[in-house]
Amino acid sequence: MKFWSPFASLLAIAAAAPNSRGGNIIRLPLNRKSTEVAGHVDMSALNTHLIGVSNKYRQTFSAFEAKTGSAHPLSGKMRSSVGKRGDGVVPLINQGAELWYGEIDVGTPKQTFNVSIDSGSTDLFLPSVSCLDCAGHKMYDAALSSTAKDELKITMLSYGAGKVEGNEYSDDIYLGGYEASNQIFLAASSYSSNFVYPTFRPDGLVGFAFENISSLEAKSVFETISDSGVLPENVFSVKLSSTSGESELYIGGMNSDLYVEDTLTYTAVTEKGYWQVNLEAVSRDGSTVASNSPSIIDTGTTMIVTATDAAEAYYQGIPGSSSSTQGEITYYTIPCNTIGSYTPTFSFGGRTFDVSEATFNLGPESAGSSDCLGGIAGMSDVDFWVVGGVFLQNVYTVFNQGNIQVGFAELA
Ligand SMILES: *[C@@H]1O[C@H](CO)[C@@H](O)[C@H](O)[C@H]1NC(C)=O
Ligand SMILES: *[C@@H]1O[C@H](CO)[C@@H](O)[C@H](O)[C@H]1NC(C)=O
Repeated sequence: MKFWSPFASLLAIAAAAPNSRGGNIIRLPLNRKSTEVAGHVDMSALNTHLIGVSNKYRQTFSAFEAKTGSAHPLSGKMRSSVGKRGDGVVPLINQGAELWYGEIDVGTPKQTFNVSIDSGSTDLFLPSVSCLDCAGHKMYDAALSSTAKDELKITMLSYGAGKVEGNEYSDDIYLGGYEASNQIFLAASSYSSNFVYPTFRPDGLVGFAFENISSLEAKSVFETISDSGVLPENVFSVKLSSTSGESELYIGGMNSDLYVEDTLTYTAVTEKGYWQVNLEAVSRDGSTVASNSPSIIDTGTTMIVTATDAAEAYYQGIPGSSSSTQGEITYYTIPCNTIGSYTPTFSFGGRTFDVSEATFNLGPESAGSSDCLGGIAGMSDVDFWVVGGVFLQNVYTVFNQGNIQVGFAELA
């Protein structure tokens, strides 16, 4: 089974440890695929996740507009449904999907939490001790931290059917051994059902995108750290894998053991908000199906998601392929015995990167089915590419805040 479900158990231990090169590594434990037993994709979990992705982009576009005074260039068709400034809306962040997560420390003395790592948003939230829905999660107790400061701002997060309300605090946050002083975050006093344990295994979520899409109007934890000038390089890098113990977030540079040096290729961030870059081409079987499209590199999304037309173009002409639409999302299947011949190749910065069958094939669409779900889905209200885990597991990804560029390299 190649699909990793949002609702899953997990494997390794999160640990931050300095390494020989003086950088700091956070190993990210990975959730297991709960669908292994059933032998097929958990379509309902996947659908919940993708609706969350759609909402996340709506809300972060809204935050961008509030911050900069102009619409995000990619907001296009999503604009009409974007919330207004001042309604206290904070991004919906992949409720239900835990994806990759690791530990951070908060306050003095340190309180430790597991947080989902999301390059597609900017804010940090944690459950607070006043949260009644947060049993099973570690909860932040500001009263126990001598560096905590109540920002005296109550923020309502609303998404889907639920609401999350909390107080903004600032406190010292430690990520991979580096300190973000007086970091603004949300200490939630209520969590929607999608964040309740064990549906959502990590305690909170930390965003790694830019301040321009923060609904708390704050820098990300990483921006706070990099702005303080302590990092060897203002860079963080990830290897994401579905193999236990192989995923890693590296703060302050790159782990040269994990990638093939001469394949590292950079491409400029085209708009500082998301980690947004030009996707030069998507091809399959040697023919190009999309070119020069805006794309967002998003560790918080499982699949590769694009406009329905673009997804349609990708699967067009594949024998036995079919589609099914659930609300705004269209899924595509390919016969399991041939899907390996129809994997995509992505081009960034003049280099091509292949997506393996293992990551593209999400498994049989239902128990006993001979049709397998393809890793590219269509969404009716996006007109760009969200490049998530299906692609990112195939490369080493370097997020360079200093030079405002994203690098991809082949895995070692
Ligand atoms: C974080 O998750 C890992 C893996 O489930 C677990 O071993 C560890 O104890 C968790 N850390 C905290 C602070 O809960
Ligand atoms: C935020 O976005 C605006 C508009 O694109 C840009 O001019 C500005 O540099 C961005 N600010 C930051 C901090 O990235």
